[in-house]
Amino acid sequence: MALTRNEVLAWLREEDPRRLDELWRMANETRQSHVGDAVHLRGLVELSNHCERSCAYCGLRAGHTALRRYRLTAEEALDCARLAERLGYGTVVLQSGEDRGLTGEWIAALVHEIKERTHLAVTLSLGERSEDEFRLWKEAGADRYLLRFETSNRALYDRIHPPLRGVRSDRLALLRALQRAGYETGSGVMVGIPGQRYSDLAEDILMFAKLELDMVGVGPYIAHPDTPLAGVLAAGVDQAPNSELMAYKVVALTRLVCPDINIPSTTAINILNRDTGYELGLTRGANIVMPNLTPLRYRALYEIYPGKGTALETPEAFDSRLRRRIAAIGRCVGHGRGDSPHRTTARACAVKGDAQ
Ligand code: 5AD
Repeated sequence: MALTRNEVLAWLREEDPRRLDELWRMANETRQSHVGDAVHLRGLVELSNHCERSCAYCGLRAGHTALRRYRLTAEEALDCARLAERLGYGTVVLQSGEDRGLTGEWIAALVHEIKERTHLAVTLSLGERSEDEFRLWKEAGADRYLLRFETSNRALYDRIHPPLRGVRSDRLALLRALQRAGYETGSGVMVGIPGQRYSDLAEDILMFAKLELDMVGVGPYIAHPDTPLAGVLAAGVDQAPNSELMAYKVVALTRLVCPDINIPSTTAINILNRDTGYELGLTRGANIVMPNLTPLRYRALYEIYPGKGTALETPEAFDSRLRRRIAAIGRCVGHGRGDSPHRTTARACAVKGDAQ
């Protein structure tokens, strides 16, 4: 659905629950008719919490020296991928901080190994790396790449995302490089960053459509006490709130402007509402959940925001609880890789998941 900037903005400012029910209904119907009822599960593996960047919002920032750092071995990462396959997932997502200790060759070998030994689609989420590395990993078999642009407001982005070795970050250029390299490409933003206005969020949502993305993930900004941004008051003019409700509005509007893409109901949303966060995301536009398969002993260390490493469950226990939650809202778990219909033009089957 083509929405004007003013329409998007009006929905972001809408507070009337009955009017918002209309937004949820439209987003849910659009989700149903374009990507079906299948909820695809992606096994998330947090490869390394080393990071050389100094993002003002993130708990993994280099300046957070009290944080103990870890890096999985290739064998540990491969075990996580095997677990993803055993649990019936179609995709493994390899994520990490910006860690040059994970060399281009090491990642390529890991991707190659996973593709050799499993049937999984491989998604990478390793931050800002070189176009040569993007190509190397694609040749090794990687299918998708996630890189959020965080906010389309360039001045705000520069404030929260300082340059590295004197080079100003340009994630929009990197997203284009990923698309050129042939990846299914995902991006997204945080909702309610201090200094982010309603109009910035409206621009972000229009940007998702303009960039022709295949996947978009959004979640509320959650202040991490060991970061500079935690001390910044989010009380500016027209400040967008980092609320659960605001995150759903962005999910729903994203579905309306990008009807056939994959949209996760994110962990950050579920942290604000551990009882029904996933469900509300899934009934307001989302069609993906990303269960965490990182070995439990590392979970607390991958604390990009607080709350991530608490209330830990084994992957098996989380998986069965999640399946019950998905069934309880009348949805089914997808089979196969769950490629973005935007990319494949295939349509996920309404009941049984896609055909693979
Ligand atoms: N609150 C919410 N999301 C965060 N991220 C990083 N730090 C925070 C935070 N404090 C998100 C960013 C990043 C993704 C991996 O996690 O959007 O791209």
